Amino acid sequence: MSQELPADEGERLQKVMARIGLGSRRVSENLIAAGRVRVNGVEAVLGARVRPESDEIEVDGIVYSALPDTVTYLLNKPEGVVTTANDPQGRPTVVQMVPSDPRVFSVGRLDLDTEGLLLMTNDGTLAHRLTHPSFGIEKEYLVHVSGTPSRAALRMLREGVELDDGITAPAEAAALGPGLIRLTIHEGRNRQVRRMCEAVGNDVIRLVRTRIGPLVDQKLKPGRWRLLDQEELLRLQQAVQPG
Ligand code: URA
Repeated sequence: MSQELPADEGERLQKVMARIGLGSRRVSENLIAAGRVRVNGVEAVLGARVRPESDEIEVDGIVYSALPDTVTYLLNKPEGVVTTANDPQGRPTVVQMVPSDPRVFSVGRLDLDTEGLLLMTNDGTLAHRLTHPSFGIEKEYLVHVSGTPSRAALRMLREGVELDDGITAPAEAAALGPGLIRLTIHEGRNRQVRRMCEAVGNDVIRLVRTRIGPLVDQKLKPGRWRLLDQEELLRLQQAVQPG
């Protein structure tokens, strides 16, 4: 068990906790002493050493990823940029918009014409959880549509729309003005928002993702990226807890 790692292996638990952003080493020690920290399901003791790449660190029942060299960027993807690492047609890619070292990949994808927030990371666990439907992470979109959606259209968007790959899960849909909807979904099917809106009679003219789970940023300009701060990383990890 990792709590019995020899002194020259792994890292001190409180150091890893401080890096995750759970608090200073002193705060982390207090959490350990209070019995609020578990490693691989077992209550941790002061002085424990862990292997961040394989051990599961849990505080108050929430599991945190503690990989030492992970980075997560929030990118405001402009229109006309593809969400792949390489594009055979030579179009600009989201990977080219963020630092190349360490290599990161996008968390899910946005269509060529979709703008807005996209996460890029090298943390496979976080990416998996953020995209897997069982975690149900909310994604919010500003949708500019043709015409003004009727009340019936909004109701259909909320209750579920019959698409060729099945009915959509309940969503939040609010009319913000003529031809403008805010739509919040927690699935990630291909071209889902476009297909949902088309199915209720309003083609999408412009699509912008404005929120991913707890993450918003109205100041980040198209084409710009930034690292998530500790607080955002913690909130993101809290948002993707199993069960
Ligand atoms: N839904 C879409 O239709 N396109 C996107 O890029 C994202 C969600």
